[in-house]
Amino acid sequence: VFFKDENIKTIKLSKNYTEMLGRPISELLGKNMDDLFPSDLAKSMVADDRRILKEGKTVEIEEAMNGRFYSTIKFPIYREGKPTYLAGFTIDITERKRAEDQLRDSEKQLRALAARLQSVREEERAMIAREIHDELGQVLTGLKMDLFWLSSKLPEDQKSLLGKTKSMLELIDTTIQSVRKLSTELRPGVLDNLGLKAAIEWQIGEFQTRTGIRCEFIAPEEDIALDQDCSTAVFRIFQEALTNVVRHSNATRVNITLEKSADHLLLEVQDNGKGIEESKIFDLESLGLLGMRERALYLGGKVKFEGIQGKGTKVTVLIPPKGKMGEMEVRDYD
Ligand SMILES: Nc1ncnc2c1ncn2[C@@H]1O[C@H](COP(=O)(O)OP(=O)(O)OP(=O)(O)O)[C@@H](O)[C@H]1O
Ligand SMILES: [Mg+2]
Repeated sequence: VFFKDENIKTIKLSKNYTEMLGRPISELLGKNMDDLFPSDLAKSMVADDRRILKEGKTVEIEEAMNGRFYSTIKFPIYREGKPTYLAGFTIDITERKRAEDQLRDSEKQLRALAARLQSVREEERAMIAREIHDELGQVLTGLKMDLFWLSSKLPEDQKSLLGKTKSMLELIDTTIQSVRKLSTELRPGVLDNLGLKAAIEWQIGEFQTRTGIRCEFIAPEEDIALDQDCSTAVFRIFQEALTNVVRHSNATRVNITLEKSADHLLLEVQDNGKGIEESKIFDLESLGLLGMRERALYLGGKVKFEGIQGKGTKVTVLIPPKGKMGEMEVRDYD
């Protein structure tokens, strides 16, 4: 605790100042700020103090000295209606600051780890998809050709053998189809070859056939150019949103909008189901939603969930362009 007079000299100091400044109290009283503190700090203190005396306002500031951090609240003391003295108290917030920094660092690390896990998973999926498609696909095609050759060599009166080879050929065909399906489900090739818009179109097609829920897709005519990280993230967010629609919404329709402008990429998925409950949106157990948020956050963007009871749920994904990453986070992250 400190008191200073109108000339910004110390009049009274609590005992703690001896510890903070490492000098006996007798050496501290009646001194200018310049005598007590490093000159830069003293200058800004005096500037604050003069402002307090001039404007009669309370000031709260954080200051650093000798590697420690302090938080100070200072206010004027009025005499005959005029701010004449000033007083305040300072607390050492170094430990709190360190804890905050550590927490922030570990949060950052966790986020980076999560992102790394996602991308490793994505690479692995792409690799397995390729292997399944190429290796297994080729073997099956070879097998099919051999079997075809074999059946063409069979005498026509070997009805039962011919019947058997025919059903084997059919079995191979369905297996080839399953292999294709499996590999596209792991990592849709359209995403890498034709981009986000085409991949969303493909996913919508699959979704409609599988669930019978009707979808409307509004997207720009031209292709949307995006780097792979971004299109993968948005695509996976989209898939999770659709999965949630089937699992939780009871919806009969989904409207999907994809839009790109100079300052964002926007994806909206709106269903006409029962509407997500407010309490689920920030529930710590909503890991699917958290995963969607994390993917967007990693790209400097955000995902918003809105539910209206009985009307439906809207999921909005906003991703800033690469160069503008920092801005959106600061602007309005909620
Ligand atoms: N489109 C939606 N309509 C209605 N409720 C929804 C919708 N999407 C999500 N919810 C609600 O939000 C909750 C959290 O969703 P989240 O995706 O995080 O988890 P989940 O789908 O239950 O499990 P998973 O971790 O497998 O995704 C759901 O349990 C559901 O109650
Ligand atoms: Mg889910």
